[in-house]
Amino acid sequence: MLQTIITLAYLVAAALFIFGLKRLSSPVTARGGNRMAALGMLIAVLAALFEEQILNIPELIGGLALGGLIGVLLAKRVAMTSMPELVAAFNGFGGIASALVAGAEVMRYAGREEAIVPFTPTLALTIALSVLIGTVTFSGSFVAYGKLNGRIKSMGFPGLRLVSIAVGLGVLAAIAWMIVSAPDFPGLDPEAVPLALAALAGLAFFLGIFLVLPIGGADMPVVVALLNSYSGLAAAATGFVLQNYALIVSGALVGASGLILTTIMCEAMNRSLLNVLLGGFGAEASGGTSTGDTEERPVRSTSPDDVAVLMSYAGSAIVVPGYGLAVAQAQHEVREMAEMLQKQGVEVRYAIHPVAGRMPGHMNVLLAEANVPYDQLIEMDDINADFPTTDVVLVVGANDVVNPAARDDENSPIYGMPILNVDEAENVIVLKRSMNTGYAGIQNELFFNPKTQMLFGDAKDSIKGVIDELKELQPA
Ligand code: TAP
Repeated sequence: MLQTIITLAYLVAAALFIFGLKRLSSPVTARGGNRMAALGMLIAVLAALFEEQILNIPELIGGLALGGLIGVLLAKRVAMTSMPELVAAFNGFGGIASALVAGAEVMRYAGREEAIVPFTPTLALTIALSVLIGTVTFSGSFVAYGKLNGRIKSMGFPGLRLVSIAVGLGVLAAIAWMIVSAPDFPGLDPEAVPLALAALAGLAFFLGIFLVLPIGGADMPVVVALLNSYSGLAAAATGFVLQNYALIVSGALVGASGLILTTIMCEAMNRSLLNVLLGGFGAEASGGTSTGDTEERPVRSTSPDDVAVLMSYAGSAIVVPGYGLAVAQAQHEVREMAEMLQKQGVEVRYAIHPVAGRMPGHMNVLLAEANVPYDQLIEMDDINADFPTTDVVLVVGANDVVNPAARDDENSPIYGMPILNVDEAENVIVLKRSMNTGYAGIQNELFFNPKTQMLFGDAKDSIKGVIDELKELQPA
């Protein structure tokens, strides 16, 4: 009876994970989806505790309270721009948890009688995969964490690729050693399994470091999405080891969705995953600090006052947010400005590029935080046709995602990347601090276009200036 309830609980948890994930696909339902999946996880944890008869209540409450407190504190304190770092750390902990649990099964069963399942070569392979993927995810994620917050700047050392290949071969040898040492395998020593496992874990740890080290800091969000997928695969492998269906389902969901996200990010940047993993462009240029093209050509500068006048006489305006909006944290000011314009009868919408910013959904999250209505956020494919009939486009800290070279210049490194066609609008105003390049490290012809005016300065200060002038212009 108890076992039936536990199996049903796992089923309910799996269903909650799937429906929760589905609801994450729209900002309107995402919060509910998150809560749904969290409830599923609570049910799965309780079912696992009952199944394994781990019912020491004070220890459980202590663990829940401590873990919950750390989670709440981290989530409250993390800045929106540091979210990829937090996700990287979570992935790392997920990976190592799977590896430790699978490894513990070896300690429990290898060469002993009380195994719940026979310690076959297949089980040895499954445990090896869990430990390998989990440990690579752990060390790789913490290198990604260090690169994202700038503490790790190293791109490796000469001959790193050869060393990685050697370590990879060592990993294969350790896996083979584990399989042939499994008790069911005739003629070899089962006592060697823990030794083989330790060798595998050590080599996998270095493999994770060596794989992520040569990748540029700016490519880390893609790497984090991929490592997220790995952490799911490690959990699914551990689910097979433990024969735990909830773990298999949730691991497979994380593995698949992480891989889909990685593919979407690569496609939106028009880069192959191999190119990212082998360290392509962006290796040194991160966060708009590179100067790239240093040629000096005249650009048209403007002032907040002129921008306010231009926008208040416009019939339609489109705001294009980019990474600079996140840096300046100007989302609240942008919403305030848009509302003032809307009150004056200007149609204001926001154009969302899939890889604007530095993490998936970055702009949606920022604008949602400032309570911008969801129906004003329009995806790239749905808004691109509207630019030719738009009076003013306000580019707030975006650069690569509005670079016409991606569309027109076959020799550009970003050629083929889909962009927002803002240069087709009547007037373009670009808010940024300097002529520095963005993530891709290349100059942007849009800034030299005769219809473009540059409003130099921190985006928050610039928008505040526009708001002040709009107040002056509005009838009392
Ligand atoms: P970027 O091309 O990176 O340009 C951001 C611009 O913001 C910079 O040129 C910078 O110019 C400006 N800026 C920075 N701080 C500012 C501030 N305080 N006030 C005003 N402007 C500021 O951004 P994007 O157009 O959003 O494109 C995103 C890029 O990141 C793409 O190349 C994409 O492929 C890549 N990427 C995205 C993701 C995801 S998932 N979103 C993941 C990995 C890579 P100044 O320094 O002159 O101010």
